Amino acid sequence: MRCVVTGGAGFIGSHWTDHLLGHGHAVIVIDNLITGSLQNLAHLQGHPGFQFIHQDVTLDISLDGPVDFVYHFASPASPADFKRFPIQILKAGAMGTHKTLGLALAKGARFLLASTSEVYGDPQVHPQPESYWGNVNPLGERGVYDEAKRYAEALVMAYHRMHGLDTRIARFFNTYGPRMRMDDGRLVPSFLACVQEGKPLTLHGDGQQTRSFAYISDLVAGLQKLSESDFHEPVNLGSE
Ligand SMILES: NC(=O)c1ccc[n+]([C@@H]2O[C@H](COP(=O)([O-])OP(=O)(O)OC[C@H]3O[C@@H](n4cnc5c(N)ncnc54)[C@H](O)[C@@H]3O)[C@@H](O)[C@H]2O)c1
Repeated sequence: MRCVVTGGAGFIGSHWTDHLLGHGHAVIVIDNLITGSLQNLAHLQGHPGFQFIHQDVTLDISLDGPVDFVYHFASPASPADFKRFPIQILKAGAMGTHKTLGLALAKGARFLLASTSEVYGDPQVHPQPESYWGNVNPLGERGVYDEAKRYAEALVMAYHRMHGLDTRIARFFNTYGPRMRMDDGRLVPSFLACVQEGKPLTLHGDGQQTRSFAYISDLVAGLQKLSESDFHEPVNLGSE
């Protein structure tokens, strides 16, 4: 296949790019490097199946030749980014999803959206099944991310229903592994930073809260299964 991975210079996108190339597919990464780094793709320089395009996916995307699968991962995603890039997050979820769906439609390609457990907001149901509609405050600081992804999911389903586009929606829970930024505010790198500095680990709240964690290779295995399926409703990807 010839695949497009938006956000491929980021943590998850770069691992997914490695996976696709490792399975003999060609990959075009489109990334504006707002939170990603070329360092994550440095080992792919010169790979015959790999191409990098420095572009913002909220703008028109024009590509020559066939495309078989579009994976839309581009979005700032860490808690630190919610404060720094609120408008860019909303645009990546809304306009970026619109542009990448348009690309998939034009090319007759399959499409997968990287969504998030944050669509459940501040959930009143634990753990969250896909059938739970969530509890989101659209005005809060996290609202930019939650609502961007909820809108993106709605847009994907609309393209599926209206245009018959072959779509998938993956709701990632907390994923961790190599290439995460140490300063991005997520729990595992924050703990590791404390360890490196010899400081006690900081737990917010009363310590009773639970989280679902998945190692990056497990997420990649889940993504592979979802890509191969013909399931169009959202799928949670995380640990129990
Ligand atoms: N890491 C997690 O635990 C987690 C959990 C749930 C969902 N997700 C989703 O997975 C995807 C990847 O997350 P990540 O943790 O790898 O984040 P990341 O910040 O490491 O990667 C995101 C990438 O998207 C790029 N990007 C952002 N906006 C762009 C734009 N407008 N145009 C082009 N490129 C753009 C960034 O430069 C970066 O390379 C995101 O959509 C995120 O919402 C991640």
